[in-house]
Amino acid sequence: MMLKIPDVLTQEQIRQCRQALEQADWVDGRTTAGHVAMKAKNNLQLPLDHPVAQQLGDFILGLLSQNPAFISGALPLRILPPRFNRYEGGGDYGYHIDNSIFGVPGTQQRIRTDLSSTLFFSDPDEYDGGELVIQDTYGTHTVKLPAGHMVLYPGASLHRVTPVTRGTRYAAFFWTQSLVREDHRRSLLWELDAAIQSVALSMPDHEAMPQLTGIYHNLIREWSNT
Ligand code: NI
Repeated sequence: MMLKIPDVLTQEQIRQCRQALEQADWVDGRTTAGHVAMKAKNNLQLPLDHPVAQQLGDFILGLLSQNPAFISGALPLRILPPRFNRYEGGGDYGYHIDNSIFGVPGTQQRIRTDLSSTLFFSDPDEYDGGELVIQDTYGTHTVKLPAGHMVLYPGASLHRVTPVTRGTRYAAFFWTQSLVREDHRRSLLWELDAAIQSVALSMPDHEAMPQLTGIYHNLIREWSNT
């Protein structure tokens, strides 16, 4: 399931994040790539321990913990601290699949990358190219969202970023280990939650509501692996 979540950031928050990102010192993205990814990767990245990366990363995690669409779609167990990249001057990232396991910096903890996310900090008209292209069983999807919006997609997907031929594309990306590992089960839970929300809005006192919400929670209990 691919999910687009609008307005994760307000215009003022985007402006502040952009200011911090534009003033930061960036390094070659290949420094954090594995052996195979290194050949495909041609972008800039903030070092993981860069104060701006840590400050904006914490800020984003705080927002996500209160974002109903993210919580319902991702059912997050653990989120890796967001990373930041910058594409310009023809920079791109060829087709690859992200690593399956990452260590959480400064801890013994490791997370499985069930979901990948990209949060955009540049508006589509600020740059040419820079589309996130994702392949899944339903075909190839091209994603280029307004600043402040994000996309969530299965970590197992083959994906690339096309060359940025004009302007600069800033984004945050991060991985989530979900309570529910299987994508098809998360999709069912997402649809069930949306249906329950819809009924709750039009018929809040319907006698089947407690049973419906109970089924939702019992399915999570059944399918969650923590
Ligand atoms: Ni990737």
